[in-house]
Amino acid sequence: MPSPSLTPQDHAFVDRLLAQMTLDEKIGQMTQPEKNSVRPGDVARLALGSVLSGGGGNPEPNTPASWRAMVSAFQDEALTSRLNIPLIYGVDAVHGHNNVVGATIFPHNIGLGATRDAELVRRIGRATALEVAATDVRWSFAPAVSIPQDLRWGRSYEGYSQDPAVVSALATALVEGFKGEGWRSPTSILPSVKHYLADAATTWGTSRRVDRTALNTDRTLATAQMGQSTVELLDLGAWQIDQGDTEIDEATLRAVHLPPYRAAIEAGALNVMASYSSWQGLKMHAHRYLLTDVLKGELGFEGFVVSDWEGIDQIHPGDYGRCVVDAVNAGIDMVMVPFDYERFITCLRGAVQAGEVSETRIDDAVRRILGAKVALGLFEQPHTDPALLSLVGGADHRELAREAVAKSLVLLRNEGGVLPLDPSGPAVLVAGPDADDLGAQCGGWTISWMGGRGPTTTGTTILAGLRAAAGAERVHFRPDGHADQTYPVGVVVLAEDPYAEGMGDREHLGLSDVQLALLARVRARCERMVVVLLSGRPLVITDQLPAWDALVAAWLPGTEGQGVADVLFGRRPFTGQLSFDWPRSQASLRRGGDEAPLFRMGDGLSEKAPLLVG
Ligand code: GLC
Repeated sequence: MPSPSLTPQDHAFVDRLLAQMTLDEKIGQMTQPEKNSVRPGDVARLALGSVLSGGGGNPEPNTPASWRAMVSAFQDEALTSRLNIPLIYGVDAVHGHNNVVGATIFPHNIGLGATRDAELVRRIGRATALEVAATDVRWSFAPAVSIPQDLRWGRSYEGYSQDPAVVSALATALVEGFKGEGWRSPTSILPSVKHYLADAATTWGTSRRVDRTALNTDRTLATAQMGQSTVELLDLGAWQIDQGDTEIDEATLRAVHLPPYRAAIEAGALNVMASYSSWQGLKMHAHRYLLTDVLKGELGFEGFVVSDWEGIDQIHPGDYGRCVVDAVNAGIDMVMVPFDYERFITCLRGAVQAGEVSETRIDDAVRRILGAKVALGLFEQPHTDPALLSLVGGADHRELAREAVAKSLVLLRNEGGVLPLDPSGPAVLVAGPDADDLGAQCGGWTISWMGGRGPTTTGTTILAGLRAAAGAERVHFRPDGHADQTYPVGVVVLAEDPYAEGMGDREHLGLSDVQLALLARVRARCERMVVVLLSGRPLVITDQLPAWDALVAAWLPGTEGQGVADVLFGRRPFTGQLSFDWPRSQASLRRGGDEAPLFRMGDGLSEKAPLLVG
């Protein structure tokens, strides 16, 4: 099934260029280092195919303009290489151009799944593409098409839903948004459909990413800058399930986890990222059957497969040469080698010269990479229009994000119709430090890899949104919940600590003692209490729920917190619907058990609930 993104002329152009390339130039195209590792001149000298910014791989100062200056400089250098092959710069723009201070940050995928609104997600994809392209970047490692099976997984919020049909529809919409008027348009960005395959179906306890006895926190994990120590995080469950082993049978693998890839490829996606996880004990990065026979053969995928960050290193720990051989032979076309890129180049060159990797395989990989660059028009227009910078974090995109926030909120309890609140009614108490914390409402993958609390970027906190809606005099903020009067209504905002990837794996999903004490204080001073949860996944709140008059799942809404106020004060209706079952207890955090969920996928009290997809 030919990809709709490549024409016969494109293929002919690629073949002509390939015929001129040396082995080293071909291997250079297969190499993707992180921008902090690249030595001046190496992009041109080695004909590097790509450079990336990892989570938090930001220029200093972190502004849209300095991002553009950095990326454009890499591209300018690439164009001086012998064959003037443009590079393609990659970032994790997974909920807006989220590394960039001042960019619009949209709700994470779990919130977008609750909107069921493919048209909205397409518009978000378009807005994201414009902000990414403004910085001369033409590739985002999104959408994740993960279908989380166990909410203890720290990447649950990167999944749209537990329902493959919802994931397929929204992922396709994002790809279409990234594409815009066409891949050749200089405001399109290459999507990376990830992480292939079944990254979200691993079994708790099977991750080998961190050796608990050796505490091998390597240089990658050292960049995580989490608030707690590694030991504390490991004791909470960090790195127990992320990057682990998926033990499901092939029928389930195909029925549940493959459809979103088929859908995204049919929409024209030309990149797939391999998963760190394994399937039945074999690392996906070395899985020839799934990477080559199924993805490239059966699904007809004509794009290229990129490894994850040091993903090939996990195939045979300690034997990098074998990692390179097995990964490339399995079907990895470009290797994300953030640090030691020359070691990779040397190993692959040696493998080809030793006949362990064929030139045919190398040519196939490079043909796929060059094809994607041709499809994006990078040879004709290696730079985007700097005028796009005026769109980054602009009013239109923030208004779109505000709409998305409002549509993502799910009302799960509303005793006595306490919501919506009356913006001209009596004063309300707002409690919880996270009510006024932009970093808490954005979550992971925001400015830094893990994200973090505080004014990490620009936007509107929930508190600021509430005050704008009802007037500051009607919104009394007591972060610790100690109120010197009673109130008819109290609103408590509770957030998970920001996290990403396996750092967010948690054995237990409940509220902290500090949060429970805050709730008790507010409960004692307010006739009615509304709880707003900022979380990357459903939390176990069954025992606490009866004392709450209302519960709003707000997920990780991003920078436009006024979208929460819009719904709490009735400016917009509640329309969100759960895209995951909500577990009743810690015993049912993994799907498939006997215990009935507290709430089911599709639940959500609302004035109108247009079930648009899934
Ligand atoms: C990370 C993630 C992947 C991301 C990549 C680049 O480890 O697994 O989702 O795109 O590295 O930051």
